Amino acid sequence: MTDSLRPANVHFNDQGTPVADAFDDVYFSNDSGIQETEHVFMLGNDIAERWQTCNRPHYVIAETGFGTGLNCLVAMLAFARFKEANPKHPLKRLYILSTEKFPIAPDDLTRALSVFPDVALLVDTLVAQYPPMLNGCHRLQFDQWHTQLDLWLGDVHALLPCWHCPEDGLVDSWFLDGFAPSKNPDMWTDSLFSQMARLSKPGAGFATFTAAGVVKRGLKEAGFTIEKRKGFGRKRDMLTGTLSNPPVLRNTQPWHYRYPDTPLSSDDNVAVVGAGLAGSSMALALCKRGIPVSLFGKAPAPADGASGNRQGGFYPQLQASLSPPARIQAHSFLFASRYYQHLAEQGVTFTHDPCGVLLLAFNDEVASRQQKLVSKQLWPEQIVYPVAKDEASALAGIPMQQGGLFYPLGGWISPQELVHAQLTLARDTGLLTEHYDCPVDVTTNEHGALVTAKQSEQQWQFSRAVLACGHHSAELDALSHVPLRPVRGQVEAVPVQSPLNSLRTVLCHKGYMTPAWQGRIALGSTYVKGDTTCEPRREESEQNLATHAKAMADYPWAQSIEHDFTARASIRMGIADHQPVVGAVISPDTLTHRYEQLYKGFRPAEYPLNTSDQTIAVLTGLGSRGLTTAPLMAEVLASQWCGEPLPMEEDLLQALAPERFMLREMKKKPQ
Ligand SMILES: Cc1cc2nc3c(=O)[nH]c(=O)nc-3n(C[C@H](O)[C@H](O)[C@H](O)COP(=O)(O)OP(=O)(O)OC[C@H]3O[C@@H](n4cnc5c(N)ncnc54)[C@H](O)[C@@H]3O)c2cc1C
Ligand SMILES: C[S@@+](CC[C@H](N)C(=O)[O-])C[C@H]1O[C@@H](n2cnc3c(N)ncnc32)[C@H](O)[C@@H]1O
Repeated sequence: MTDSLRPANVHFNDQGTPVADAFDDVYFSNDSGIQETEHVFMLGNDIAERWQTCNRPHYVIAETGFGTGLNCLVAMLAFARFKEANPKHPLKRLYILSTEKFPIAPDDLTRALSVFPDVALLVDTLVAQYPPMLNGCHRLQFDQWHTQLDLWLGDVHALLPCWHCPEDGLVDSWFLDGFAPSKNPDMWTDSLFSQMARLSKPGAGFATFTAAGVVKRGLKEAGFTIEKRKGFGRKRDMLTGTLSNPPVLRNTQPWHYRYPDTPLSSDDNVAVVGAGLAGSSMALALCKRGIPVSLFGKAPAPADGASGNRQGGFYPQLQASLSPPARIQAHSFLFASRYYQHLAEQGVTFTHDPCGVLLLAFNDEVASRQQKLVSKQLWPEQIVYPVAKDEASALAGIPMQQGGLFYPLGGWISPQELVHAQLTLARDTGLLTEHYDCPVDVTTNEHGALVTAKQSEQQWQFSRAVLACGHHSAELDALSHVPLRPVRGQVEAVPVQSPLNSLRTVLCHKGYMTPAWQGRIALGSTYVKGDTTCEPRREESEQNLATHAKAMADYPWAQSIEHDFTARASIRMGIADHQPVVGAVISPDTLTHRYEQLYKGFRPAEYPLNTSDQTIAVLTGLGSRGLTTAPLMAEVLASQWCGEPLPMEEDLLQALAPERFMLREMKKKPQ
């Protein structure tokens, strides 16, 4: 899934309809785009009836060509109206998954949709979140319309096989769009139709504007029944149908990221152990979905651990390749950037400054690594671009001796305030109960997860529990198969002084320094493996100052930073492969029992599914990038437990799964 995207070249014809130059075809009908959507995709899929008779909380529409987004916006508008007319209906939320290989520039999209005043507010909401040109899933929120849009950028043929599918299917209705088969034959292939069947729930419907024989035959072959209906406008026919013959095997690997047997509902309750970035992100993700949460923290107040730092840099750790770690970082960063903006819009305050992050090319080795990253052109300019010395100086607000890489969406955030802000929003749902000064143990019993206070031995019964314990995860037997590596770190709170009072962006080299907040600058940080003590140390302060002095040897002021030795030390939870650990906790014994034959390479269908192991999950291993990864990691786990579409490709989900280390070993032949 690494093919690079190309932007659409669009012109507007005499009727004002957008036309794709490469395909010489219109994005929607010259007659009326909205009426075409309503006729072909909404009526064609009998959406109104399907919503009315749906007895589940979610409905999933998948689309094959996002284009201007008109189909999706029309569906959202209809769903908002359905919700308004049926406030007590069990169907609560619409999920739309749409693919696009040639994204339209936001200006063209705005112009194309400006003729439809009904969707004007939706267009503004879409454009405000419109993602950069990066392959993969971009999850966008349309809360006012009770809808979530997963915009999957890339080729539909590469994307659909990456969608993780529940055992009973994912998609309720397909909007089978794309330019006419005669103009875009590459899209309308059997591999598309068989993926549609793989991902469809039994009885799922599809509708498409075309009645071409290749489409009719292909869908029939894939297991759909086909019905011809009257087409829109001047088109004589169109096709609709339902999946009557679902496939047996929907996923290729049985061991990772199974959905639970039953999704969480408001009748359940979940214990979240940990009151840092991981725990507060998780609590909010669940409460927002209507799930009652009890949060436990060891200390008298939240943000006691690593998340208690005053200021932290917010940017991703990219590489000169589209490896799973780099893609996890990039997508986490983009998701978090939208997420923080959304939090701020909801009226909670947490101090943050999207002032950008400048990674200085402070020695030849780093400069050549940065050069490699840029020359590969893997990452869109909205995420990172190179800057020369003069531009770096203008961005930093103080003269720079080198250029480097600039992350314009990055900046700094106060993690401790962010934790409080997330908990405030979770509290506002009325679904959050908090227990501080309360270290707990978690075990399972026949009712789910049993939480026991270590001091009072008071017990609480929950349906499930999430272990978001930061570095304390390393003390848990249940995670003995995960190579968890606690690493102490100390960050300085240096009094503001010249020229750092002019610093306007986060500056990174071997360490980092932020612009001033409340008269102090964060300057970090040390790495002491295996040390879990948290008192600040004078020698680590000196080490931090020395690191900055060395990396910034050409800067006289960096040689004599004045410090009163105010500092904070805490513990990161690192993982051997530097990726977060997110998902169900399955005991090493169970894994050994199930997969001891893994090295023999049997077909995946011959191994048992993980569905039942969903009582306890873990969300940890955020390492040095918790501000970047926590929101998307919590979103992944909440989506999994609530039976929603997952916002990442299968290979990325597997790169996060707690059992990945053990399975990797078990794939090797025993000696
Ligand atoms: C010096 C330093 C500098 C950093 N700088 C940055 C930065 O610039 N940018 C960035 O993105 N990240 C940075 N990080 C990393 C970031 O701080 C972490 O990734 C993040 O805070 C981890 O959050 P967490 O919730 O997993 O863990 P923590 O914040 O450590 O929270 C763990 C929580 O679990 C609770 N807990 C544990 N066990 C139990 C139990 N048995 N019962 C009840 N409660 C329990 C604790 O009380 C605590 O509330 C830095 C980290 C350090 C140490
Ligand atoms: C007719 S337009 C879709 C119109 C759109 N549904 C709307 O509401 O504006 C077809 C879309 O399919 C996209 N497309 C074509 N081939 C594709 C492929 N192989 N993978 C993903 N998208 C593709 C095109 O770029 C184009 O945006």
